[in-house]
Amino acid sequence: MTIISVPTDFNEEDLYVDLRRIVQHSLFLKCEGFNFAGSIKLKAATEMVEAAEWIGVLKPGSILVESSSGNLGAALSLIAASKGYGFLCVTDSRCNLSARRFMEAMGSRVHIISEPAADGGLLGARIAHVQALCASDDRYVWLNQYTNTDNWKAHYRTTAPAIARRFPQLDVLFIGAGTTGTLMGCARYFRTLQRQVRIVAVDSAGSVTFGGRPGRRMIPGLGTSVRPALLDESYVHEVVHVEEPDTIRACHRLARRGFLFGGSTGTVVSGATQWLSRHEDQDLTAVAIAPDLGERYLDTIYQTNWLHDLYGEDVLNPDELATDLTA
Ligand SMILES: Cc1ncc(COP(=O)(O)O)c(C=O)c1O
Repeated sequence: MTIISVPTDFNEEDLYVDLRRIVQHSLFLKCEGFNFAGSIKLKAATEMVEAAEWIGVLKPGSILVESSSGNLGAALSLIAASKGYGFLCVTDSRCNLSARRFMEAMGSRVHIISEPAADGGLLGARIAHVQALCASDDRYVWLNQYTNTDNWKAHYRTTAPAIARRFPQLDVLFIGAGTTGTLMGCARYFRTLQRQVRIVAVDSAGSVTFGGRPGRRMIPGLGTSVRPALLDESYVHEVVHVEEPDTIRACHRLARRGFLFGGSTGTVVSGATQWLSRHEDQDLTAVAIAPDLGERYLDTIYQTNWLHDLYGEDVLNPDELATDLTA
């Protein structure tokens, strides 16, 4: 039995889904969405808040302010509510309505930016808004997930050791890249361990993180329009880019087997599957990190009108999705 009195005290760290029957490759999916914030961002949020308290930047009366596409915002809302801080989330029009409602239910405020900056897109405009707020009132504390090293340290301390413990023979680890906190924390940990683990970053097509050209991205979570300051590419062995229709197909394929995951997970699973298809000749122990669950995407990725409007009527091929339970 687990009994807790603060929401951050619970996080399922040891759940993996064996995806062999769904993706036809040996792939274990580490589920990071089973906590009260519903995503992996609870780890980064907790680490950043505790470090800011420790150095005295965050104190009674402080108001946290952060730019987030939804999931870090949800995590900070929960922490702020449980510790008695204010929280203001600066997001953009791609933020899911359910993520916004989650934050507001916990007493947080949400500012939505809809005009991209000339240089830096919507993310650039969000950051400019956060900076203006901080300049206007010294109660605001911006932890800045894009530059805060406690973001990646959370994964160096928790996510990566948990995987290393369960998979001593790990060959390849697939990690989605947003701020690159998860990626850099895990990559640094495996480098320190001196284990021959291939680190494969999974990014959305249209993201500039690894130097690609900016393009339309409608699914929040992974990808950036400004290169993340935390990224050190020397730790990353390979990068796979995933088109949004492939993310959507991966999400629906998992859902048809009873696993409702979010957009970031669909992207990581699609990227991992593509990569494993190119390395079929090798017998590999492969793990992918699933950052989120699917409930927050019921009005987008799992909603037919939204899908057809953005990606056309053929985005989901019924034959491809059909459940073959004999596989
Ligand atoms: C659901 C979800 N998955 C993945 C990520 C990216 O993780 P990271 O910021 O550690 O790269 C984010 C970032 O906001 C996210 O919200």
